[in-house]
Amino acid sequence: MSQPAILAMPKVHPLYLQALGPHYEVHTYSPEADAPWQAAAGRIVGLAGGGESVIPGALLERLPALKVVSIFGVGYDGVDVAAALARRVPVTHTPDVLTDDVADLALGLVLSVARQIPLADQHVRQGRWPQGALPLGRKVSGARLGIVGLGRIGKAIAGRAQAFGMSVAYTARSAKPDSGFTFYPSAAALAAQVDFLVVITPGGAGTRHLINAEVLQALGPRGFLINVARGSVVDEAALVAALQAGTIAGAGLDVFAKEPQVPEALWSMPNVVLTPHMASATHETRQAMAHLALANMRAGTAGQPLRTPVPECAALVGR
Ligand code: NAP
Ligand code: 8YV
Repeated sequence: MSQPAILAMPKVHPLYLQALGPHYEVHTYSPEADAPWQAAAGRIVGLAGGGESVIPGALLERLPALKVVSIFGVGYDGVDVAAALARRVPVTHTPDVLTDDVADLALGLVLSVARQIPLADQHVRQGRWPQGALPLGRKVSGARLGIVGLGRIGKAIAGRAQAFGMSVAYTARSAKPDSGFTFYPSAAALAAQVDFLVVITPGGAGTRHLINAEVLQALGPRGFLINVARGSVVDEAALVAALQAGTIAGAGLDVFAKEPQVPEALWSMPNVVLTPHMASATHETRQAMAHLALANMRAGTAGQPLRTPVPECAALVGR
């Protein structure tokens, strides 16, 4: 008997594709009208994507047999969830399994930018040590950390910051009195009170440019911005302008507005650390994500209970 057909969006992680391979006839999406997957469109029962995939309603419309969208990633801001819900097609994602890695990288960026680790590495490798020392860095232990988005990953970042003796405050859509951390009602109010502002909300329309010129002004010339959320959450033009003008002290950025394009103005700034959207990129975590995304795909295409539907689809799948 032939395998059920699924469609994989471009650049879906190889570990996810590898996991899907034995169970499905896997087609790869490309936009051309005569792309090979089009011939199988009527048989496609599952759609595989990553956290960065853009899955518009128009694509879902072309897949009449679709039963599930399974995202390899916790963020799903590129998926038209309303259109999927209208079709009664659940969307799933991979929360929790990547929380530790993303929190680790957030702290890694805090340390990298404050203690100038990448710059120091270049100083040694380029043989400049004998000519003198680097300028002094900024102390991390005991500093004030602000978290924009105290969800699964935000809380894990808070725990790590506490181990560094940092004070923790946050903003989110709602206050979390049980957390024991100080709540500020806006990103600007939070920014004014901290040395490091770490952004870890979902992307999408609800958070677009939440970090704008006003927030950067409030963070001030001794404040650092760390973004491990989505590029869309930060007004990138305002960030570049703030760094150029010395409005803030520096930035650690894992995500960008138009990945994989990174504004060239940032490349040469010594007070900026840049990483290529790699917060969950360890063997262990990407394997765990692939397992969970596959489990969701298999359950969805077999009409069985899903492991981790996105919250908007919980009612649809009876949770
Ligand atoms: P989560 O548990 O859903 O937490 C999201 C948090 O963001 C919640 O505290 C939520 O507030 C807050 N939030 C949502 N909208 C907001 C707004 N408009 N203003 C202020 N706060 C807002 O999600 P998670 O598992 O921690 O993941 C968070 C995000 O991290 C993902 O969606 C993804 O975009 C990003 N991420 C990036 C990478 C990477 O490779 N760089 C890897 C994984 C995840 P409430 O609690 O009040 O609702
Ligand atoms: C991945 C992510 O890079 O989980 C997310 O939301 O952004 C990252 O873990 C991505 O999902 C891989 O496609």
